[in-house]
Amino acid sequence: MAHNRRMRTQVETKRLLLRPLTGDDFDDYAAMLADPEVAAGLAESTGTSAADAWRSLATFIGHRHIRGYSHFALVEKDTGRFVGRAGPWQPHGFPGLGVGWCLDRRFWGRGYATEAAHAAVRYCFTDLGATEIVSVILPGNERSATVAERVGHRFLRELTYRGQQARLYGQSADEWRARENSATV
Ligand SMILES: CC(C)(COP(=O)(O)OP(=O)(O)OC[C@H]1O[C@@H](n2cnc3c(N)ncnc32)[C@H](O)[C@@H]1OP(=O)(O)O)[C@@H](O)C(=O)NCCC(=O)NCCS
Repeated sequence: MAHNRRMRTQVETKRLLLRPLTGDDFDDYAAMLADPEVAAGLAESTGTSAADAWRSLATFIGHRHIRGYSHFALVEKDTGRFVGRAGPWQPHGFPGLGVGWCLDRRFWGRGYATEAAHAAVRYCFTDLGATEIVSVILPGNERSATVAERVGHRFLRELTYRGQQARLYGQSADEWRARENSATV
């Protein structure tokens, strides 16, 4: 992948600021993952305890050091509240450049995940120069599948990911560009 020219460390959408996760996000991050409904959706999930959350947060922060990019913290611009995380992600063993999203339960149902996912997809194709991106979604996670389809992913295939049956969604840069161009005509 041709890592770009200009990899932004911060991105803004209408309602959200996307900025690097830090250790200071731990309390909010742990509160988000303590909700079993949130943890159940995550193919990467190890559990709902604060110790599980610490390891998860450390992994996403470490991923930025190793790869130069990672999921961003999502911050509500109006209030400064921590909403969740979303962004690019490719840990060892992942089936391609991934894009993912995870929101604190309190912020579901507002369109924030789709707003952040659109920005994350754009980031992958512009800042990271990706030719294709994927998302691994657990069967039955309809909310996440809906976000995936809203940002232009299509179902690619079934796969086994970390011992779990999962569904791979994704899109190519050509598909993304074609949609972008038709939207701006
Ligand atoms: C997956 C997840 C991020 C989806 O969150 P979400 O809030 O359902 O997704 P969106 O941001 O697209 O919000 C869509 C909802 O907001 C509503 N909405 C309200 N205001 C809106 C606005 N301004 N713009 C768009 N949608 C809006 C939509 O009508 C829709 O409502 P519905 O829930 O009744 O269908 C969330 O369920 C989650 O964090 N789950 C746990 C972690 C997880 O599974 N992550 C994915 C791993 S693959």
